Amino acid sequence: MWIKKRQDWFGIVHDLAKEMPNDEKLAYCQKNHLQVDEIERLNPGLLHGKIAAHMAKKEFGFSEDLCSAIQYHTTAKENMSQLDKIMYVADMTSDDRQFSNKPYIVELGNKELDECVKYILKVGISQRMAQNKKIHLNSIKALNYFMQ
Ligand SMILES: [Fe+2]
Repeated sequence: MWIKKRQDWFGIVHDLAKEMPNDEKLAYCQKNHLQVDEIERLNPGLLHGKIAAHMAKKEFGFSEDLCSAIQYHTTAKENMSQLDKIMYVADMTSDDRQFSNKPYIVELGNKELDECVKYILKVGISQRMAQNKKIHLNSIKALNYFMQ
């Protein structure tokens, strides 16, 4: 029961700032002294994880491990905790997302969590490269972490 409740809260809080307009995201970061890098400035949508993590800690007293999973659910990062990985895969396979290889990702996530995170990163980075879009350094570092 407790796990279910924590998942529910987690599910709600991780996207707390998703609908915040981009100019408000940037203003929130400036006001709260959250560092914004070049890629985030170009794509402020990425900031919703960082802002939600800040809110989760400040407003709800979430622990560091929960806040880390919330913050990095958008980009991933190197040396992710199990909770970071679970959050990352859960977000990618949430009910509101529909894409052709989603069943494969769900199956992989249930069997090999590291391979699943690696696969999502490879696909996501490949897509951004194909679109000639910049890739957040955290995502590149995360993928490198899983490569040999
Ligand atoms: Fe999100």
